[in-house]
Formats: sequence, structure tokens, C-alpha cells
Amino acid sequence: AWFLLGRRRRRQGEPPLENGFLPYLGCALQFGANPLEFLKEKQKKHGHIFTCHVAGKYIHFLTDPFSYHALMRQGKYLDWKKFHFATSAKAFGHGSIDPAEGNTTENFHQTFIRTLQGNALDALVEAMMENLQYVMLQSRAPKPQSNAWVTEGLYTFCCQVMFESGFLTLFGKEFNSNNDKNLSSKQETERAHILNALENFKEFDKIFPALVAGLPIHLFKSAHSAREKLGEALLHKNLLKRDNLSELVTLRMFLNDTLSTFDDMEKAKTHVAVLWASQANTIPATFWTLFYLLKSPEAMRAATKEVQNVLESAEERISLDGKHISLNRKQLDNMPILDSIIKEAMRLSSASMTFRVAKEDFTLHLENDFYNIRKDDIVALYPQLLHFDSEIYADPLTFKYDRFLNEKGEEKTDFYRNGRKLKHYYMPFGTGIAKCPGRLFAVHEIKQFLTLILSYFEIELVDTNVKCPSLDQSRAGLGILQPSNDVDFRYRLKCL
Ligand code: HEM
Repeated sequence: AWFLLGRRRRRQGEPPLENGFLPYLGCALQFGANPLEFLKEKQKKHGHIFTCHVAGKYIHFLTDPFSYHALMRQGKYLDWKKFHFATSAKAFGHGSIDPAEGNTTENFHQTFIRTLQGNALDALVEAMMENLQYVMLQSRAPKPQSNAWVTEGLYTFCCQVMFESGFLTLFGKEFNSNNDKNLSSKQETERAHILNALENFKEFDKIFPALVAGLPIHLFKSAHSAREKLGEALLHKNLLKRDNLSELVTLRMFLNDTLSTFDDMEKAKTHVAVLWASQANTIPATFWTLFYLLKSPEAMRAATKEVQNVLESAEERISLDGKHISLNRKQLDNMPILDSIIKEAMRLSSASMTFRVAKEDFTLHLENDFYNIRKDDIVALYPQLLHFDSEIYADPLTFKYDRFLNEKGEEKTDFYRNGRKLKHYYMPFGTGIAKCPGRLFAVHEIKQFLTLILSYFEIELVDTNVKCPSLDQSRAGLGILQPSNDVDFRYRLKCL
């Protein structure tokens, strides 16, 4: 029949093949509707490896966590960069960042590692601590004396606080110009600019999955204009008007200027990409962490106690007289309960996907068997299968705040399947060479956010029996999923 034309036939030595029913799209719709269910069903039918035809591509899914390292080991046949480079150019609208194509010789991954980890991380953590308190106590609440309850959507709150603080941390503050406007009106102007950037960010972020799937941005008029406005705000000439730019942004500006042939708007769009990467997953991860914490009195008690202990041993006092709490990276690293809570919330909400593209025909060696893979095919991992595996995580849909703590109350790292210890059991940040370079900063940010919320505010859900929102599957494969609806909560300053 005509619709079978162009379909692949399984050859000997290849994994079982699912062509799907639709011409061209193959399994795309079934996969898109609920990837986890789809993959579970195929896993039951075919076993630990199978191939799906999705929108013209052939994707080999590895579902056995003991095979994950096989993929990393055979990296020489697999490319991770081309797909990332192409996706970034398509979504953000800059020229190719593949050095092979000649627009730039910058090694982006290297830049990110250099400016998000090691010593650079100390400075980021310090700036974030200051900015979070500025946003929570001054920028959002100009009258910190008042201790009336404020009711708000939890997602809206997390979004505003994390976006504003994260934006200030990476992109600095507007210069305090020397005209006679008073400080608070300058702060209001700055805040208005950032909230405006947040609106543009949200408008653009909504269609991000469509862009990754290959639809052109011209189809989405308001999102397109939102992306251009974000670009405008991040033009080098505008960034140069700001104080306290992070090392990440300063170095990226320098490398844009010295190693690339990008025009001004393209340079700005590489910064839009960094802004997106720094916020798109952090915001929902913060929401889920705080939501589960509010739903679980036991977790709340343990977290509050840990925060109190850490502040006490750091001799930090909570006050509203303008002196901010400061905790350095080492002190924050010593909070295993918050770590476990954050991990557990991300285990439940993450749906990232790891992709590698075959550079040539090759034989993929797994633990006990091997398969032929064709050039340009994709080999993929979908770690949500792992995160929701009841053998690894008993009662996998339930939030257990101490799931990642051992008997000594330290980080738990031994998880088992079939009686064997797993190397890979937790992968919201991806794995191998392309692992998220911002992962340490991300966890610190969320921990700082929680520490400050628990220190300065009384906080509760409006309806303590509220149902856990479902995961919005439209972003499956791209990272932390957003909640399908917001949840009301209320907070007020503690009487200190
Ligand atoms: C890439 C997750 C926060 C910067 C990634 C990837 C994942 C991820 C899954 C792709 C890895 C792959 O393709 O295998 C997350 C999650 C976060 C988070 C779950 C928060 C909870 C951040 C933050 C920053 C950041 C705060 C920076 C400030 C980046 C960058 C890349 C990346 C620059 C691209 C890396 C490259 O291509 O070299 N992230 N991320 N991320 N992330 Fe994150």
C-alpha cells in the first residue's frame, strides 16, 4: 500500500521495530500523548531495546538501566553535539554554533563548565543568596513590616521569584544612573523590566516543544515577537549598561566578540539560549519541591529543623532589619535533607531524554547481546522509566522525603534492580558527556530558595487536601515537566 512506502524493514541483527500506523509520523502521536505509557507498553512487548519510527526518524530506545553505560562507552560511534547545536539554532534563532560550520570557534560546553562550576560557582551562589532575599523581601514586598497573609498561585510565585533572582544573578543589575530618581523608583523600573522579560520568556517557552519538533517560529506570531524582544534586552550594548554581570555572561560576550562572526542580534540570541537553559527547568523544579514540602508535614518538620541547625552553626540570625542571611557553598552542601527533598521532587517530575546520533553504521554492544544500528539513527534513553520503576523505588508515585537518605541521614547512593546495584538511578540532569553543566548551581538555587522561605515566612497551602496537579506532558523529553494547573498557597512574614 502507498502508506507503507519509505518505511523501514527490520534487518537481521537489528532491534525489534515499531513503524507505527501513520505515514511519516509513525509512532509520533502515541509517543507524544504519553511517552511513559507508550514506552512501557513497547518494553513489555519487545523487551529491553526496540526501535520506534517517529516523524521520519528511527529511535532505538534502551530501557535497561544496566545498558546505559554501554551507550556512554561506545561514544566514538555516537554524536551528541550536532543534535544540540541544530536544536539551539532552530529554537533561539542564532546561526550555527557548530565550529565545523565556521561561524564561531567557541566551545560552548567548555565555556559553560568553566563558568558554572568550580570557583565560578561560589560567586554565583553568593550572588543568588543576595538576590533571592532582595526579591523576596524588597522587590516583591516593598513593605516588609506588614505581616498580613498574601494568597497567590504557587507556580506564579516560584516563577517570579526564581526568574527575577536568577536573571539578576546571571545578567546583573541596571546601573544606578546618577539622575535624581530615588532608589525605590529605580528598583521599580528594574523590576518592571524583568517582569516584562518574564512575560516574553513564558510566551516563548510555551512553543518551545513545537520548535524542537521542527515547526518554524513564523507560525507563532506572538512567541516570535517575544523571542525578538528578549534578544533586544540582551544585546551586548544593553548588557554593557549593567553591573555585576556573571562570569558566564562576561566570558560569553567576550567569546562572541572575538571568536564568532555573529551579528549583534545573533550574539544576543546566544544569551537568550543561556537564559532559557537557566530558567526553563529550574522554575518547575522549584515549584514541585515546595509543593511536595507543603503537602508533607513530616518533610516540612525535617527541613525546617535542618535549616535552623545550619543557620545556628553558621551563626546567622534571621532579621528584617536589612541584614541578609549569608550561607556559603560549603554550608549549603551540608544539608542532606533538603538535598533528598529536591531529588525526590525532581524524580517525580523529570522527563528528560538523552539522545545520541549514530555517526556511522555500527554494532551496539550491550551487556549480553548486540544490535546493528544504522548511520543517522538515534539511540535514546528515557530515564523516567527508571525513576518510576517500582523495583528501584518502592511505591514510585509517592513522595518520600527521605528516599535519598541512608540510615546515617547521609546521601543514599545504593539502589538496586534484580538484586544488582545500579550505577544510574537518578538522571534529571542527563548523563555522560552532555550532562547539564548548571546542575550544581540549580540544586544550590533551589536549596537557597527553600532555606529563605522557611526562615522568613510562615507558609501553607490554602487547601491542605488539594490534589497533586498532573504533569503537563507537552514538554516530555525536554526536562522537568510543568504542573497542568496552579495551586493556591498563602504566606506571611514571620514575626521576628
Ligand atoms: C543542558 C537539565 C538547570 C544550563 C541540560 C540538559 C538537561 C538539563 C537534561 C541536557 C543534557 C543532555 O542533553 O544530555 C536541567 C535541570 C535543571 C537545569 C533539570 C534544573 C532543575 C540549569 C541551570 C543552568 C543550566 C540553572 C545554568 C545556569 C544548562 C546548559 C545546558 C544544559 C548551558 C546545555 C549544555 C551544553 O549543551 O553544553 N540541562 N538543567 N541548566 N543546562 Fe541544565
